[in-house]
Amino acid sequence: MLLSICLISLNMPTTNNLSYLCAFKVMKYENEISKRRTFAIISHPDAGKTTLTEKFLLFGGAIQTAGAVKSNKIKKHATSDFMEIERQRGISVATSVMTFEYKGVLINLLDTPGHKDFAEDTYRTLTAVDSVVLVIDGVKGVEEQTRKLMEVCRMRDTPVIVFVNKLDRDGKDPFDLLDEIEKELKILLHPLSWPINMGKDFKGVYSLYDKSLLLFNANQKATAEDSVQIDNLDDPILNNLVGEKDADQLRSDSELIEGVYGDFDNEAYLTGVKAPVFFGSAINNFGVKELLDTFIRISPEPRSRETTARHVDVQEDKFSGFIFKIHANLDPKHRDRIAFLRVCSGKFERNKYFHHVRLDKDVRFSNPYSFLARDKDVIESAYPGDVVGLFDTGNFKIGDTLTEGEEFYFTGIPSFSPEIFKEVINKDPMKTKQLEKGLNQLTDEGVAQLFTQHNGNRKIIGCVGDLQFEVIQYRLLQEYGASVQFNSLPFYKACWLTAEDKSKLEDFTRFKTSNTVIDKDGHVVYLAQSDWFLNTEIANNPGITFHFSSEIHK
Ligand code: G4P
Repeated sequence: MLLSICLISLNMPTTNNLSYLCAFKVMKYENEISKRRTFAIISHPDAGKTTLTEKFLLFGGAIQTAGAVKSNKIKKHATSDFMEIERQRGISVATSVMTFEYKGVLINLLDTPGHKDFAEDTYRTLTAVDSVVLVIDGVKGVEEQTRKLMEVCRMRDTPVIVFVNKLDRDGKDPFDLLDEIEKELKILLHPLSWPINMGKDFKGVYSLYDKSLLLFNANQKATAEDSVQIDNLDDPILNNLVGEKDADQLRSDSELIEGVYGDFDNEAYLTGVKAPVFFGSAINNFGVKELLDTFIRISPEPRSRETTARHVDVQEDKFSGFIFKIHANLDPKHRDRIAFLRVCSGKFERNKYFHHVRLDKDVRFSNPYSFLARDKDVIESAYPGDVVGLFDTGNFKIGDTLTEGEEFYFTGIPSFSPEIFKEVINKDPMKTKQLEKGLNQLTDEGVAQLFTQHNGNRKIIGCVGDLQFEVIQYRLLQEYGASVQFNSLPFYKACWLTAEDKSKLEDFTRFKTSNTVIDKDGHVVYLAQSDWFLNTEIANNPGITFHFSSEIHK
């Protein structure tokens, strides 16, 4: 009956109607998908990520007071007392995903840790977002972590919006800064707003996108009233507002920008080729609303993804998703593990059986956890772009895929080279089995990477920061009863090796036994002592490809 009504109302020849209906069926969740935006704010520590996050949440009504996010923040410079850091991470699970609605758009803002030792967590979170806002300190410019984060974004062509922060301080000349960002981050830019001076002379930003001028007042937060529509920069009102000299400077800057950058090309942004740039001051709430307003207009909806078997269209009605992060609580009173699932297609439902591809078994979740800022509670359903927290008792590892029965894994979830390598010394041979189990489980969670040396059983752990070694030592003892110590090794980088001619790889590993290891998936990995050694090996072994990251699923 319903079918015939649909056919009549479509008023088309029958064969066409069927294809229309098929298309209709495939687009079952279109409305849910089109109103979602899933992204992360990333930056080098101290550039202003937390401050900007907080302002976004204030606009979205997800928090009522400034400081709410800060109090959850891990102290960036803490180098010891990992239990305290873990305690704070425990709190920060609640803010791992901040969901709020802004002007009818449902925004999933994925938090990334501020502490550099947890950078691997950040890289993994980037596999679950559809775009990022990259915050750059206008005084310091591009910093070490900014470069690394951009590399990760480039691997998946993630669309990037750049926010140049701290304009209330004397910083770099904006043209020089854009040059620096383009060169250092290897991405083309397109300024959508432009500052009028900076530091104590900072007068505001002109939106080249909306043709409006936002005036800065150091003593009060910006409001809509501070924004003046100026369609034509030759309008003498500009002279009255910012003074003749600065008005003329803005006119010539904007002419130059138009000449160099041309019209804004949204497609170039969506394909990760060009990054729009905004200027502002997060702490003063200045330029933030303009950024958010433009973000919801230009940023991508949840995107389709590739898998080991086929392309999964985000509009498909069958559910699929993958685990991108696992959070284990160190507090013995709360031994819970939460696996973070990104929904990629279809509808996730509570208590429905889904297929756990790696374990080849069907699993269901009676308490899937939502991260809605005001309602952290069990949810009934979730759609593409959403992140669901699943209570886990050790069934998941990073990169695991859930489907409605199909066998595939989502690709594009890489492991990156650790920066510190240590050999694991078993202090209690009676607990060898427990140690093996513990090392396997902890590395499945992504706390660290585990390598085994060729021709031997030497186990090597690789981490991004020293803190993880403390965490591993503590957890191995507490959770598995295994006591270990670590011996530092002189390596600084891991490279995954492939070769068309397998014998080349075998020869290499035979000659370089002390530098070659096997990762958990059986891939051959070269551990380099320095850039010099690495470059020498690359030059001497043209038949071998040195990869700087490894795909969990290919
Ligand atoms: P992060 O998450 O990227 O690490 O940076 P966060 O937001 O914590 O900001 C780092 C420092 O920069 C903070 O100061 C913050 O107040 C300041 N900041 C953020 N935005 C601006 C801005 O637009 N202008 C200026 N001048 N400063 C800004 P702090 O002293 O380290 O911390 P706090 O005592 O303010 O919490």
